[in-house]
Amino acid sequence: MLSQLKHFLNTKRIKNRIRSIENCSTLLDVAIFKIKNEKLNGLNFLEIGVFKGDNAVYIYENIHQLFNIRLKYFGFDIFDDIHLLKEKYPKDLDQYNLADYPYWEFNSGQHTFNMVHKKLASTIAPENFKLIKGDTTETLKNIEQELKETIDLVFIDGCHEYEVVKSDWENISNLFKINPKLTVVFDDFTYEGVKNTHDKILETGFYLINRLNNNQFIVTLK
Ligand SMILES: C[S@@+](CC[C@H](N)C(=O)[O-])C[C@H]1O[C@@H](n2cnc3c(N)ncnc32)[C@H](O)[C@@H]1O
Repeated sequence: MLSQLKHFLNTKRIKNRIRSIENCSTLLDVAIFKIKNEKLNGLNFLEIGVFKGDNAVYIYENIHQLFNIRLKYFGFDIFDDIHLLKEKYPKDLDQYNLADYPYWEFNSGQHTFNMVHKKLASTIAPENFKLIKGDTTETLKNIEQELKETIDLVFIDGCHEYEVVKSDWENISNLFKINPKLTVVFDDFTYEGVKNTHDKILETGFYLINRLNNNQFIVTLK
């Protein structure tokens, strides 16, 4: 009973804290803000760069604790095909398998499609998630026609090379045609490829950009 009360009060505190987009400092905050502000009874979340699936599980579990709504997850990653990173984006691959950052490694196999699928399936019902394997410069082409769902929130956290970040943005920005309330969060602003894409988006004059924190920014339609 006491733990239920604690949970209730904690949930209330978190929901009350996030009153505007300016109060948000994490991706989870943005998801909470959207659900509250747009009175959503479901959230469709698309992530570019799934890696080991931990961010997907984190967002899913937290949203479920806070709201009684349906959450659907679409995850895009190269998964097992690390040889593609080696061939096409070697500079990006150089950011992984470093002794100083043990979590960001491809040697354990935890990033493979089967392992990630298993991890997600232990938390999320199979009909509520979909993993799409391949280079996003290919798999996101015509995304607005391929997806049978309206997407509410996108997290761009895949390859950091400019040509890929730019391509990810160009493909994802087509989703605004279907849902003008779409929110796109970019990770890794400190990378040149992401920073250059940020500047390109700003130059168009069509979008509002808010900094979420030192490393992430949010894009919405003006
Ligand atoms: C930084 S990790 C993603 C981290 C994850 N979003 C999280 O918060 O835990 C980047 C991921 O992007 C994937 N990736 C890199 N280049 C890609 C490409 N061109 N197409 C698809 N996935 C790519 C990598 O395999 C890696 O899993």
